[in-house]
Amino acid sequence: MSTMKAWQLQGVGLEHLKLVDLPVPEPGPKQILVRVKAVSLNFRDGGIVDGSYLPELMVRPFIPVSDASGEVVSVGSKVTKFKKGDRVTSHMYYKWLDGSPNQNDIFTYSIGGPSDGGLAEYILLNEDATVMTPVTFTNEEASTLPIAALTGWFSLVEYGKIKAGDTVLVLGTGGVSVYAVQFASALGARVIVTSSSNEKLEKVKALGAKDVINYVETPDWEKEVLKITEGKGVQHILEVVGGQSINHSLEALAFQGHIYVIGYLDNMLSEVKLRSIIEKQAQIQGINVGHRRAFEDMIKAFDELNIKPVIDTVYSFNQAHEAFEHLYKGAFGKIVIKISE
Ligand SMILES: NC(=O)c1ccc[n+]([C@@H]2O[C@H](COP(=O)([O-])OP(=O)(O)OC[C@H]3O[C@@H](n4cnc5c(N)ncnc54)[C@H](OP(=O)(O)O)[C@@H]3O)[C@@H](O)[C@H]2O)c1
Repeated sequence: MSTMKAWQLQGVGLEHLKLVDLPVPEPGPKQILVRVKAVSLNFRDGGIVDGSYLPELMVRPFIPVSDASGEVVSVGSKVTKFKKGDRVTSHMYYKWLDGSPNQNDIFTYSIGGPSDGGLAEYILLNEDATVMTPVTFTNEEASTLPIAALTGWFSLVEYGKIKAGDTVLVLGTGGVSVYAVQFASALGARVIVTSSSNEKLEKVKALGAKDVINYVETPDWEKEVLKITEGKGVQHILEVVGGQSINHSLEALAFQGHIYVIGYLDNMLSEVKLRSIIEKQAQIQGINVGHRRAFEDMIKAFDELNIKPVIDTVYSFNQAHEAFEHLYKGAFGKIVIKISE
C-alpha cells in the first residue's frame, strides 16, 4: 500500500471537496498509522468546508473531518501505548492532554483542519493524543465521540460537576445536544429539551428527557422552562444556539446556575443583558471541546451509564458530499461516514 484514496479540500465550498489519490503517510517516532474505519461529521467540519470556520488557519489543500476511528496498522519507533491491530479513536486538540490548554497550540494542532483529518483511507495520529476505542462500541459508534460527546461531557461533568436531581436545559437535537441529554439523564438530572420538531422531541423523551418544548411553536420558551421548574429556572444550560438565545437562556437560568457557551448555530454576535447575568449571579463558561484526560474518563463512564451513541445516518466513503449536505440540513444525533470494513 503506497497510495490511498482521500477526500481533499482544495478550496472553499463543497464542490472543492475532491476524491484524490495521495501517498500513504509514514509514522514519525511517536505516531501511529491508522486504517480509518469511520468518521463522524460535526458543525465545525461543515464550517471548514464552507469557509466560515477560522478560514485564516485552513491552508488548503488538506484532508478534512476531525473525528475518526479505526485500526492501527503500523507504529513509529518510539510508540509504547499502541500496537498493530489496536482499535483507536482520535482526539481533536492533539496537544491538549490535561489541565489548561496552551492558547497558541489549541487551534493550530487540530485534526481535520489545519492538520489532516480522517476523511481518507489512512490517518497519522500522535500516540499521546489517541484513545483506545471502547470494546463495546462499533467503529461507527466510536467515531461520534471526539467532539460531540466530549463537549457535552466536558460541560456537564468536568465543569458543571452535575449531580442527581439537578435541572438541565438542552437546546436543539444536534450532535452535542443529544449526547448532553443522554449524559444528564443517565446521571440522574431532570432534563428539558427544545427542538423545532415534535417528532425529534418524542425521540429525546425516549432518551430520558422529562420535558420538551417546541421552540418554533413557543418562541418564548424560557417562560415554559420557568413554569416547568416552578419558577426556579434550570441549573445547567448548554447554549449551542448563540445570538439572542443567550438572553432567553439567562431568563431560564436558576440563581447561580451555569450556562455553557458552546456554539452559534444562530449567530456569533449577541447583545447580552448584563443585568440578568449580575442578578442571577450566572456562571458563564466558554467550552472548547475538552482534553484527552476527560475523553478517557468519559469512555470509562459509558458502559456504566449504559449510553449508546445516537446515529442518524451512516453514509459510504463515496457519499461524502451527501453526508455534508445532510449536516447542513441538521440531523438527530450524529452523521457517520463508513470508510472501510
Ligand atoms: N465549543 C465547542 O467545543 C463546540 C463543540 C461542538 C460543537 N460546537 C458548536 O455547537 C453548535 C452545535 O453543534 P452540533 O455539532 O451539535 O450541531 P448539529 O449537529 O449540526 O446541530 C444541528 C441542530 O441544532 C438545532 N438548532 C439549529 N438552530 C437552532 C436554533 N435557532 N435554536 C435551537 N436549536 C437549533 C437543530 O435542532 P432541531 O432540529 O431539534 O431544532 C439542528 O438539528 C455549533 O454551533 C457548533 O459549532 C461547539
